[in-house]
Amino acid sequence: MKIIMLGAPGAGKGTQAKMIAGKYGIPHISTGDIFRANIKDQTELGMEAKKYMDQGLLVPDELTVKILLDRVAKDDCRNGYVLDGFPRTIPQAEVLDKAVEELNESIDFAVNVDVKDENIIKRMSGRRACLKCGATYHIEHIPPKQEGICDSCGSELVLRDDDKPETVKKRLSVYHEQTQPLIDYYNKKGILREVDGSQDMNDVFNAIVAILDGADKH
Ligand code: AP5
Ligand code: MG
Repeated sequence: MKIIMLGAPGAGKGTQAKMIAGKYGIPHISTGDIFRANIKDQTELGMEAKKYMDQGLLVPDELTVKILLDRVAKDDCRNGYVLDGFPRTIPQAEVLDKAVEELNESIDFAVNVDVKDENIIKRMSGRRACLKCGATYHIEHIPPKQEGICDSCGSELVLRDDDKPETVKKRLSVYHEQTQPLIDYYNKKGILREVDGSQDMNDVFNAIVAILDGADKH
């Protein structure tokens, strides 16, 4: 199964993508996590991506597309994957479509996790992220067992550099301008499904599972 998670920054794409990956046994691929791991390791790619990410801007398509295509070509993607944060522009979606079509395959669903902008700003300031394994927490809604420490790998949790309120506002405006058009793009292809991302995370997940398992007839 090949799934794309759409939604504004902070809508819960990463939270849901991890749960989907666990249930269906497919890899969770987040371009944001790949960039953050490269920043942490101070690679050339990481240093280049950081310039854009810290300003709330998108990393240029040339850099992003290559990373994603290399990743989905790996063996563990043979039974599918859940993409989180890619595609983010129409050209990225077109490149992905072409790559998938070349394998005579197709994307099954593009799931849009819908959350209003005002809720997003509140969520982001409480988010804590593990830069080592990509796990995400929220100090109020989804706290780690031990404050400041990742439940999964024991690393230190941090507030992401791009989660400052000014940068979140910029990310939201970039989202509306460059990424939101993808909703229409996938709607026209008949694979768009919408879920209300403002519910409790388990309710959001149940709604997504109903879609993926075909219980939700749209
Ligand atoms: P990326 O890492 O993809 O960030 P994003 O899209 O801005 O999304 P977030 O990770 O901020 O949010 P999310 O939807 O995953 O929400 P989460 O589950 O964490 O990208 C970062 C940057 O990298 C971009 O700005 C860009 O520069 C660059 N980049 C990445 N991909 C790119 C691409 N393809 N092209 C170009 N540039 C690219 O949840 C948010 C918070 O809410 C958490 O604290 C969580 O615990 C909490 N939460 C989740 N669900 C719920 C719920 N139901 N109720 C209450 N709280 C909840
Ligand atoms: Mg994320």
